[in-house]
Parts: sequence; C-alpha cells; structure tokens
Amino acid sequence: MANDTLSVTDNRTGKKYELKIENGCIRAMDLRGMKVDAEDFGLMAYDPAFMNTANCKSAITFIDGDKGILEYRGYPIDQLAEKSTHLETSYLLMNGELPTKPQLDEFVTKITHHTYVHENIKQFMDGFRYDAHPMSMLASTVAALSSFYPEAKQVKNKEVRRNQMMRLIAKMPTLAAFSYRHSQGLPYIYPNNDLSYTENFLTMVKSIGKPNWRPHPALVRALDVLFILHADHEQNCSTTSVRVVGSSEVDPYSAVAAGITALYGPLHGGANEAVLRMLREIGDKKNVPEFIKKVKDKDGDKKLMGFGHRVYKNYDPRAKVIKKACDEVFEVTGKNPLLDIAVELERIALQDDYFVQRKLYPNVDFYSGLIYEAMGFPMEFFTCLFAIPRTVGWVTQFEEMITDNEQKIARPRQIFTGPKKRDYVPTEKR
Ligand code: SDX
Repeated sequence: MANDTLSVTDNRTGKKYELKIENGCIRAMDLRGMKVDAEDFGLMAYDPAFMNTANCKSAITFIDGDKGILEYRGYPIDQLAEKSTHLETSYLLMNGELPTKPQLDEFVTKITHHTYVHENIKQFMDGFRYDAHPMSMLASTVAALSSFYPEAKQVKNKEVRRNQMMRLIAKMPTLAAFSYRHSQGLPYIYPNNDLSYTENFLTMVKSIGKPNWRPHPALVRALDVLFILHADHEQNCSTTSVRVVGSSEVDPYSAVAAGITALYGPLHGGANEAVLRMLREIGDKKNVPEFIKKVKDKDGDKKLMGFGHRVYKNYDPRAKVIKKACDEVFEVTGKNPLLDIAVELERIALQDDYFVQRKLYPNVDFYSGLIYEAMGFPMEFFTCLFAIPRTVGWVTQFEEMITDNEQKIARPRQIFTGPKKRDYVPTEKR
C-alpha cells in the first residue's frame, strides 16, 4: 500500500513519529525512540502473555483463528489427516515439501533406526515411584537424553542438529511407552523395526505375553491421524517455551524438555486429561445444565475444559476431524459412554450466550481424550499422546529459530512495581 506507516504524536512532548508497518506489525524497538528527555529509556509495549505480540517470523504452520483454518506448510490439516501419515507430515514440517517416495523411505528408515534408547535410560526410569505421572517421567528423561549426546550442543551445525531432531522424533514414542509400562508395573517392550511408527508405539505400550500381538489396524490409523493433528500449532505455549529456552543455544533435548513441561499444564496439553475428569465429574447427560451453570458462575473456578482457544474464535478444525475419528475407533472398541455427555455439553454450550459471546468452541482436546480412553489408555497418559507428535513441531520450530538471523537470546523487559531504593536495616532495628 502507498504509505505503510503509522503516524504517532507523543502528547507528552508534541513530537511526531512515523512508524513503519510491515507484515501487519510495527517493530516494538521503534517505540524506544519516543522519549520525554535524554534520560528516558524510551517507550516499550506492555503485553502480558503476549496476547498481541509476534515473537518471530515462521513459515511452518498457518492458523486463521476466525475462519478455523490450520495449514502445515500450506497444506490444509483435513487433507493431511485424510491422505497422509504422521511421518510423511513430519517430513513436510521439517523440510517444507511433501517427500518423494525415495525421500520418505529414507526418512522412515532413519527414524526407525533411532527408536532405541541407551540401556541406562531404563535404570533412570526405574528410579521413579511406581505412580509417577508419565509426563514428569517424559520431561525428565528427555532432558537426561542430552547427557547421552554431548555433540548436540553444536546447534549451529546443521548435520548434528538434524541428527538430534531425528533422534527426538524417533525416541519420544519409546520413552513414552517406557513411562507407561513403568507406571503399570510392566516390563519394557523394545522397539520393533518391522513395524510402522505408530504401530510400533502401540505395540510397545500394549503388548503383554504375546510376542506377535499387534494393535488393531483401525486403531493404528486413528492414532496416526491424531498424531498428524497434533504435530504443530505455530506459537503455542509449549513451542514458545522451546523457542525461548532454545534461544540460549542450549541443546534441543533440553529445549524440548521445556516444551514437555509447558504442555503438561491443564490449560495447554493437560486439557485432554482434564476433559475426561470433567466428563466423569458430570457423570450423566442430565447433570450438564447444572455444570454449565457452575462454569458461567464467575465466582467459581470451573472452566469448560476442551473449550476455548487463544487463536481459534471458531471451531478448531482439528476437533472436527477428531470427532469423526471417534466413530471409527468406537466401531472397534465399543462406544465410550462419556461421548453422550460430551455431545450434550457441546450442544448446550454452542447455543448458550456465555460461550457464543466469548467465541468458545471445542478445541483439539475436547474429543481426543474419549478416543484415548476407548483405546485403553489411562487419563494420566493422555498428554504423553500429545507430546509424541508435537515433538516434530517443537524441533522444527527450534531449528527455524536457531537459523533465523533476526533471533537472539530471548530477554524481555519489565515494568518495575517494587519499592524504590532504600537502605539496609539491621535486624535489631526491624
Ligand atoms: C491447547 O495455543 C495453542 O495452539 C494450544 C493448542 C496447541 O495445539 O498447541 O491448540 C492446544 O492448548 C488447546 C487449549 C486446551 N485448553 C483447554 O481446553 C482449557 C480450557 N480453555 C481455557 O483455559 C482457555 O480457553 C484457553 C487457555 C485455551 C485460552 O484462554 P485465553 O485465550 O487466555 O482466553 P481467556 O482466558 O482470556 O478467556 C476469555 C474469556 C474469559 O471470560 P471473561 O473474563 O471475558 O468473562 O472466556 C472465558 C474466560 O473466563 N473462557 C472460558 C473458557 N475459556 C475461556 N470460560 C469457561 N470455560 C473455558 N474453557
């Protein structure tokens, strides 16, 4: 456009400024020139929780929250969910293009041959209490992995960096499966290189006493679709954590461990576990109106878990695909009785002004837990099922940050609200 600028008058001084507008943004650093005198530090932008702050330029995932659009490297999520696999989508996210057959075969072979973890990891895992939450085990073990690959510190070396990215994608299912087996008091099952990524994961988790046991193909496909849906989601809380921690040039294992701990929170990846607890608490369709009333009661602390989103002010496109996958899974496992409560909750919420005005719709976590439970996973394991596929998003965003010449160590400013300078008071005078 003719004049991509913002004309600003600082009424404190009467000075006028022209700020450049680029990509729908002004540069926050351009505010620093607005001072009342030479001593003045200059203006800053105050934006708690980064509600309106772009912290990077990214070419990986595009979301249009108002239209409910989600695209990985330009490909619509519903097309990838229908036609792709998690590893093919992982290749797309990491490399920017869908792979040729030889490229995909090479990628799958590399991932397959990195699924084992060092035997010491088993001893590390065994150190956890029998009832340790799998997400705590996963975060700790991934952080510990950095001690097995000291070369990972060479984050600017593309070949070394890519090797660690492949290791993380390959080993996350193994570590998650081991943490599941530990919490169930079961022996670890080693990866089987003859199985696909998701089939191998389900076998490591579920196989008991039958070496040739294999998961139902429909469940493998459904979980692989869920993995595709959870692979990346631009600058969400956990990805931002990976970028911020990674900006200190720490190794990718340590940065991804930070992402896992952020994902653990009930407002983020922990929501799928919280949804099941909420549905259990409601207990029956007839209790839904009462529960909705509690959520709307602002004095209470009840949230409708699995609803709402910082970006989507429309139906989360992933929730639509997951709801469809429910039917395919329930054909094999039998319908999860909690589904009726979830459907009734959605029906009532979508016509209730409180939710409509706030543009609160089901998000990716609202239905996913129903599938995981139907597959026989305990609620504590649900967020691990989010962390596994999100690993490719985290490592790809990590690499994009590390290779972005505009990025440097993250170090925000603050508005100081504490006491002015004062002298030390000896104990006897306090
Ligand atoms: C994920 O960022 C990502 O992309 C995340 C994710 C990904 O793929 O990485 O999509 C995955 O984390 C999905 C979100 C899972 N979390 C939940 O389902 C938890 C429940 N949802 C809420 O906690 C909430 O909606 C958030 C955290 C998701 C978004 O919160 P925001 O953007 O900070 O919105 P807000 O808290 O400012 O809410 C605005 C209003 C408030 O009411 P008022 O103060 O204006 O009166 O909406 C209300 C909130 O109280 N509100 C809810 C609600 N979510 C928001 N009220 C009841 N139930 C809810 N779920």
